[in-house]
Amino acid sequence: MIHNDYSLLGHNTFGMDVKATKFLEYNSVAELQEMIRQGMITEPCLHIGCGSNILFTKDFDGTIVHSRITGIEIVTENEDFVDVEVGGGLVWDDFVNITVENGWYGAENLSLIPGEVGASAVQNIGAYGVEVKDLITEVEGVDMKSGEIRLFSNVDCDYAYRHSIFKTDLKGRYAITHVTYRLCKEFVPHLDYGNIRAALPVDNPELTAADVRKAIIDIRNAKLPDPKVTGNAGSFFMNPIVSTEKFEELLTLYPSMPHYEAKGGAKIPAGWLIEQCGLKGMVQGNVGVHKNQALVLVNNGGAKPEEIVALSEYVRRKVKEKFGIDIKPEVNFV
Ligand code: EPU
Repeated sequence: MIHNDYSLLGHNTFGMDVKATKFLEYNSVAELQEMIRQGMITEPCLHIGCGSNILFTKDFDGTIVHSRITGIEIVTENEDFVDVEVGGGLVWDDFVNITVENGWYGAENLSLIPGEVGASAVQNIGAYGVEVKDLITEVEGVDMKSGEIRLFSNVDCDYAYRHSIFKTDLKGRYAITHVTYRLCKEFVPHLDYGNIRAALPVDNPELTAADVRKAIIDIRNAKLPDPKVTGNAGSFFMNPIVSTEKFEELLTLYPSMPHYEAKGGAKIPAGWLIEQCGLKGMVQGNVGVHKNQALVLVNNGGAKPEEIVALSEYVRRKVKEKFGIDIKPEVNFV
């Protein structure tokens, strides 16, 4: 399907009313390859999922591409695990729901994360102590220039916190058409992060993945704004990792500072840093810092991209001034 001069309002959760010169959707790998062969995908080109991690700063003078491959196929199954190959265009949370319903475990902590399956592999989505890299065994990409299919192993993807090779060396080069996840047949709950345990019934020997999924959905709904009501792109910034030296210096000043262990130092929640700057709940014109989670910037209605950009720069500057830490956006500016 091809549209010209197409509004992206329904394709970005920030609710930016911008246009793309061309918008293409494909239903199969073969259809995408045919579009590439016919030269329909003109540069600049951007492959999107739900647009839940994007800030469109202006009209996009190029081709936006979107997958409608949504199938799920069992590749391998035994009594311990199942490998499922999933279409890149399936809505991530629909997939998580299917895994829980089928007794395939491991993805339940990633309930209600916005976005699609393809983006999960690019972004290495993570929440409540689980990252999707722990589940991914293989990623299928189609070279947007040659149409060639390439298979990436988990190691090839170079995963780290909110990082993959698709965000750096191979940025924009491949459309992620399928992702294969390995899920367990035995349910092993991961409840140690944040407030999940507190949201569950105490010492329940019958705890199920569906209970964990429900608790996480409740926590997220209570804390994070619904993009259908208030435009936002989830966490706007990444949680910074600081050196051990810097961490110890901060901990002396702020003994109750939340933190997590991380390679080379400690990870500090950016939401906490922003809140300490007194910015939680602030409103600036049509935009603001969310009242329940300072890591989320919101479009309170009718915001222009430049208002979000200005607010994000302001927040970054304030955190830098108070803590000497440069927080980096997780959201992609386009
Ligand atoms: N905190 C504050 N003030 C705030 C927000 C957080 O003090 O306004 C403190 C909390 O009290 C807590 C700590 O910061 O001690 C961590 O907060 P939270 O559990 O809400 O998680 P986060 O680190 O702010 C990350 C992910 C989220 C994910 C949650 C839960 C990133 C950038 N964000 O947020 O992911 O849902 O953990 O695991 O790593 C997303 O990427 O869009 C996203 C929502």
